[in-house]
Amino acid sequence: MPYICQHAVDVARIPVPLRTLRLQLRFLLPLLAALVLAASVAVPLLDRVTLRWFSRDLNSRGVLLANALSESVADVLRTGEPQRLQGLFDRAAQDERLLAIGLCSADDRLLQYSAAFPRDLSCGGLRERALEDGPPLRLPGGRVHVGVHEVPDAGGSRLVLLHDLSFVERRSQDTRHYLIALIAVLGLVIALITMVVAQISWRGWVKGMRALMRGEGLVAPLSPLAPPPEMAPLAAELRARLRDLEDEYRRSQGPEREWTADRLRSLLRTQLSGDQLIVVSNREPYIHERDGDQVVVRRPASGLVTAVEPVMRACSGTWVAHGSGSADRDVVDAADRVAVPPGQDDYWLRRIWMSAEEEQGYYYGFANEGMWPLCHVAHVRPVFRESDWQAYRRINQRFADAVVAEARREDPVVLVQDYHFALLPAMIREKLPQATILTFWHIPWPNPESFGICPWRREILQGMLGSTILGFHTRYHCKNFIETVDRYLEARIEHEHSTIAYGGKETLVESYPISIAWPDDATLAHWPSIAECRARVIERLQLPASACIAVGVDRYDYTKGILERLNAVERLLDKYPQWIGRFVFVQVAAPTRSALDEYRNFQQRVQATADRINQTHGRPGYLPVHLLARHHESDAVNELFRAADICVVTSLHDGMNLVCKEFVAARDDLQGVLLLSRFAGAAREMPEALIVNPYHVEETADALHRAATMPAAEQRERMASLRSTVREFNVYRWAGRMLADAGRWRLRERIEARVRRHQQG
Ligand code: G6P
Repeated sequence: MPYICQHAVDVARIPVPLRTLRLQLRFLLPLLAALVLAASVAVPLLDRVTLRWFSRDLNSRGVLLANALSESVADVLRTGEPQRLQGLFDRAAQDERLLAIGLCSADDRLLQYSAAFPRDLSCGGLRERALEDGPPLRLPGGRVHVGVHEVPDAGGSRLVLLHDLSFVERRSQDTRHYLIALIAVLGLVIALITMVVAQISWRGWVKGMRALMRGEGLVAPLSPLAPPPEMAPLAAELRARLRDLEDEYRRSQGPEREWTADRLRSLLRTQLSGDQLIVVSNREPYIHERDGDQVVVRRPASGLVTAVEPVMRACSGTWVAHGSGSADRDVVDAADRVAVPPGQDDYWLRRIWMSAEEEQGYYYGFANEGMWPLCHVAHVRPVFRESDWQAYRRINQRFADAVVAEARREDPVVLVQDYHFALLPAMIREKLPQATILTFWHIPWPNPESFGICPWRREILQGMLGSTILGFHTRYHCKNFIETVDRYLEARIEHEHSTIAYGGKETLVESYPISIAWPDDATLAHWPSIAECRARVIERLQLPASACIAVGVDRYDYTKGILERLNAVERLLDKYPQWIGRFVFVQVAAPTRSALDEYRNFQQRVQATADRINQTHGRPGYLPVHLLARHHESDAVNELFRAADICVVTSLHDGMNLVCKEFVAARDDLQGVLLLSRFAGAAREMPEALIVNPYHVEETADALHRAATMPAAEQRERMASLRSTVREFNVYRWAGRMLADAGRWRLRERIEARVRRHQQG
């Protein structure tokens, strides 16, 4: 059963931005309903209320008028000549709101009336309308209000006053318009405010989702920069959907064959048939060392070697490199060659010699004190010395001469590796103009301002532009390089095709993310089980049986962020003391460039930090940090990866970083959590890792805690996805894409040459 540090159940809550959006919807919908309701209820209600008010007003006016007329009416009735009332009634009815007046007798006869009094109105029918709030009467000319008032001392006679209600209608119509306009304006204002708030919130949400998809922020729920942990379920769902889409897309593109050593070989046969392949790097893939009176073969800790060696094994050819081992000279033939891998002899290793002084100037000086810090921008000042530069030029020329000597024809395919050889492409091009030169820059390329501090910036760029194809790990580094050329050389740049024309030659600048060889079945069969690896590591390092094991495997280099991750481990133990006694961090630090002060100082600081943490948090039988500052062979590293619960990669800046890919390849049990620096090129390809900013100690400590408590199912989901990426985007694909581009380029050049010959002839 896979070991899990601790089970933790995430409470699924809704992300904050989404919550805001929902709140707004909750607010907006009732508001809209309220507006609709207001429009449908308020208007009729208003009509009724206004009518009632005006009816009351007309009643009061009617009472006043009836009182004023009652004396005259009583007098006239006493004389028995009601017709004398005609003039009085006609005058009274001139009031604009009074439509007509009538006089009804006690026995409901209409005694007298003004001109506009409707003849068909019966006094009997009007008696029922004597109520104050009686409904208006509908006449052909419109609605009228009926007021019936008894005349005192007139034997029960009643005055009937008909008031015109059209003015009420006019007024309520005006009020209705105002009311509707007011509701509309109010609704508009509220809708606008809601939209603005929703928009702002939506942008935040979209930003959150984008960050999520880049793999940022999922790692440190407590960091102020990161989205809250409630995003996790949503992110998992989103990733699953994206994978489905990707699978669908791939299926729709037809079966994409996996890149393997065989496929790379067949590409060479078909596209570069019979062409010779020469690789140039500073570090050699096999180092022969004297160990007493024996010679041992060592594999160096180098991402470059890890990646290029399987390609060379697949393609044969010759690898030209610095012979740096103490027994290297003893095993080469007269042409300084030795067949490697020992016992398999798949390809030739041609060794180049240099004196200690030359190595000091070219390798330690210019390459590692100048170019390395210049390109990594890891807050270490580059040092540029004239003497180092001269040594660098001399050694580049020596390698160029060796390539020319190794070339069996005038157009070999030469793969130049890394920052040790910026001048080499142009030097080879001078002697072998037909060669196809692929230069791969394994480290980052800085922006033009940063690069501009190099005193020999023009020479370096000119040297690199001797390449046919210039590869970087990421598009971002390509862009930086093109901008640098644009700033410091007079070159023609075609952004659309990513080409640079300089000195009559064209260079294609392209990104080729490097990777590892995916372990095949035969390799897997030899791996000890996860439980075995764990038991061995626990025993060897004397760890507590239930330890949560985090590992880091790096060269002992200041760009790897080893100090930063130790600080994060210390913070983890301070902040989550439950881990004291259980959390163990094992750091493999392969010695490298220790002749340089910068490296020695750094290594001392790391040792002091590890000691401090062990003193503060260690106990009898428990050390939180195990710093293994010695070389480990690949089997030992693999065992550690398989034993670990967490792998920590916190580079401050890294072209790609292959350690994270090796860890993923080692975990065929689909368990283990990868913590990956956002400043490593690999972070772009591996968003399922917990992505961290290593400069942010708190965030990294929280991510360690999260990794240590990640449920097995989540580990499985992330690891499966990471493995499918690394498996597909393996090193054969890296080399295959580059060599296929080279093949196309050669074909184009051959056709152009033929056309030229044809035109000339
Ligand atoms: C990085 C460089 C490689 C180099 C490796 C080891 O990965 O890109 O070119 O080989 O570090 O460094 P070293 O100086 O020991 O060769």
